[in-house]
Amino acid sequence: TCVMKPLSDQLAALVRQALAVSFQIELADPQVRASTDPKFGDYQSNVAMGLAKQLGQKPPDVAQKIVDALTASPVFGDLCEPPEIAGPGFINLKLRTQYLSAQLVGIPTTTEDDRLGMERVDDASRDTVVIDYSSPNVAKQMHVGHLRSTVIGDCLSRVLELRGDEVIRQNHIGDWGTQFGIILEELFPDGIIPIALDPERAQSPDELEEVYRKGNAKMSDPAFADRARCAVTNLQGGNQQAISAWNLIRADSMATIVRIYEMLGVKLRGEHTRGESFFNSMLASVVDELRAMLPDGRGSDQGIRAVCREDKGALCVFLEKLDGSPAFKGPQGDPLPMIVKKSDGAYLYASTDLAAAAFRINDFESQPIKFITKSLPIALKARTDDLPHDPAQNRGGLGGTRILYVVGSPQKLHFEMLFATVRALGWTWPQNAKREVKLEHVMFGSVLGEDRKMLRTRTGESVKLKDLLAEAVTRARKLLDESDPKRAGEAWWDAMTEAQRNAKPPVSHPLFL
Ligand code: ARG
Repeated sequence: TCVMKPLSDQLAALVRQALAVSFQIELADPQVRASTDPKFGDYQSNVAMGLAKQLGQKPPDVAQKIVDALTASPVFGDLCEPPEIAGPGFINLKLRTQYLSAQLVGIPTTTEDDRLGMERVDDASRDTVVIDYSSPNVAKQMHVGHLRSTVIGDCLSRVLELRGDEVIRQNHIGDWGTQFGIILEELFPDGIIPIALDPERAQSPDELEEVYRKGNAKMSDPAFADRARCAVTNLQGGNQQAISAWNLIRADSMATIVRIYEMLGVKLRGEHTRGESFFNSMLASVVDELRAMLPDGRGSDQGIRAVCREDKGALCVFLEKLDGSPAFKGPQGDPLPMIVKKSDGAYLYASTDLAAAAFRINDFESQPIKFITKSLPIALKARTDDLPHDPAQNRGGLGGTRILYVVGSPQKLHFEMLFATVRALGWTWPQNAKREVKLEHVMFGSVLGEDRKMLRTRTGESVKLKDLLAEAVTRARKLLDESDPKRAGEAWWDAMTEAQRNAKPPVSHPLFL
């Protein structure tokens, strides 16, 4: 197979050779680096400047001699265009397009070598990567924004797998909390949820979104908002009717989401779903642990300590620098806390993310977190006992050594505060850990329209992912048809099947019928 040496090493060897030829000197580091600006080619060597002093010659002359020796080498000629000398003696190296395309063609296909010529990472640097991606909200439809997290997350997962890491995909869907209260209240305004929901009443994604939209618009009415909150409390408190209604809505929504995954060809499936609801039974224990661990800022993370205390009835984690000044500030410069429990007893997005972090890191066998309370480990254990076919069975978590969150940049602050808190709790240093568990927010920006604003339909709504994908398939087909006259006769073009031309997904897609 073709396990290649990095190109910079190959080029360095050639420059070293050129130095030996023109100046009879041996240099360990001929300073070949990737260019900072593509204007200056792909690689650069600054070796001529230092050398000129040493040799008592002018830098451009030294550079010219190196370039002459390089161009005399046929190996170099295959790799690079004739080098240019810039400024006081920089040598700019530009790879030949022909060389690059030959490299691409030379990559073994998966049938010849499923490693694509990549080396596997050694055991010591191998990670158990927990990767949180896609993570749509079930009450709303997947929109174009979720495409980013889904595709970036899936690419990263595959690359890390190929690198040799153990990759555990997690779809942290929003399937709990306020949004479901709104839907339940909108669907059943009299508060009476039929005991057995007729499956016929199952909502299509468009209908469900409409229900949510209507309900959400009523949230300015305090009476409606109150009843919606009450529905959430029922749900979170385990009310059977609320739960069965929730189950149905959620299952419908998930079926649609998984169909989109199949269509995109990403590897996320139902079994990777571990949404917010999964962590419900751990939330009270997480709060106990916070109170026990951070009464007055005992935990600290590289200069940030976390203090857990009540503020206007809400339980908060304040993150402060060691001199007591706030590490995170609100718009008025006031300390900005991470709220983990509201005054009405409700838990929030951040509370769930703390529970999820414990679940993703902890493993009672390989790397148990040093918890203070008894209740959180019990809750973790109970939760994994529920999952008979889960790899995390009875181990109280996933044992991740690197936790990735593939989420858009608007949530940057949330993750900074979350990570600081998790570190302050000491959870990133579980027992047996050889190095600190890594927490990383993989950020990306928004998909903008041609007007540089958030992508919207002509009527001003956000673009539904299923519509966007259908449109993409239609346009791609049109492009293919237009290229037919040009390409016909080329073997690979003619080999395309009609199904491939129509970008037919591997399974039937009721969504696109
Ligand atoms: N459901 C969230 C959203 O659509 C993303 C969740 C990301 N993951 C997490 N662990 N917070 O905005």
